[in-house]
Amino acid sequence: MNVRAIVMEASLALTAGKWVYADRARYTCIGTLAPTMISADILGDQIAYYRARAGEYDQWWFRTGRYDRGPEQNARWHADTAAVDTALETWLAARRPREVLELACGTGLFTRHLAPRVEHLTAVDASPEVLAINRARVAADNIEYVEADLFSWTAPQRYDAVFFSFWLSHVPRGRFEPFWEAVAAALHPDGAAYLIDSAFDRTSTARDHAVPDQDAGIVARKLNDGREFRIVKLFYEPATLAARLGELGWSAVLHRTTNYFIYGHAQRHTRAARSSVAAQ
Ligand SMILES: C[S@@+](CC[C@H](N)C(=O)[O-])C[C@H]1O[C@@H](n2cnc3c(N)ncnc32)[C@H](O)[C@@H]1O
Repeated sequence: MNVRAIVMEASLALTAGKWVYADRARYTCIGTLAPTMISADILGDQIAYYRARAGEYDQWWFRTGRYDRGPEQNARWHADTAAVDTALETWLAARRPREVLELACGTGLFTRHLAPRVEHLTAVDASPEVLAINRARVAADNIEYVEADLFSWTAPQRYDAVFFSFWLSHVPRGRFEPFWEAVAAALHPDGAAYLIDSAFDRTSTARDHAVPDQDAGIVARKLNDGREFRIVKLFYEPATLAARLGELGWSAVLHRTTNYFIYGHAQRHTRAARSSVAAQ
């Protein structure tokens, strides 16, 4: 860890009133950070982590390698992955969005479900490595891939739906509102957002990761070769997330699978409905 990082983390810890291990190798979590304290370094680390992890990323979803938790827990996991896959397919069949934007598309675990069911998909991610895997896996000519940092990228058009899986949990608390504003700006007025993300469960991460603190905000993540990175990881419950979105003018219908995931859709109230709520 370099001096600048130590100073940065020390000052973060002091302001947050939490202790930080000075040695990054032993670092587990910083504690609950105020919104403005998530530095560009951590968002840069987050991109670096997913770039370096690209080739081993899918082990998490398919429960292999360090994510293999044994037959019983793996079966629970696979039941939940099947549940979110089915829920998404059902929603797409009912909603029939034509133009869809997928944020932080990753290696294509969901791009593969979206692409065959929509006319055109724009899939954005900061990692060229995961985009290459996604392209090879999904191999569909109705996908436009965009390599971009979502914290500075602006959608060039409006879409019928914006989809993001396992991305909201990586958006720092202080960027929650701007993120949802950006989603609204990328949607047609009657468009909808669909999200899938992690529910808090001690067994969802790799066996050699520290048990996550539900409210830490920042966690340490390892690669198979032992390299360690810090990333933002926030866990939402459907009811509290729906309530928070309600305050921002969204109607959200969110659920939790038996153990591991939250999922559902959200639609921005019309301008008229928002002003009538504001006037009450
Ligand atoms: C947890 S993965 C989710 C991938 C995929 N949506 C899925 O469900 O498997 C997070 C993704 O966010 C991407 N990412 C991280 N920081 C980003 C940023 N600032 N802008 C765009 N993508 C980013 C990573 O490259 C990674 O593919």
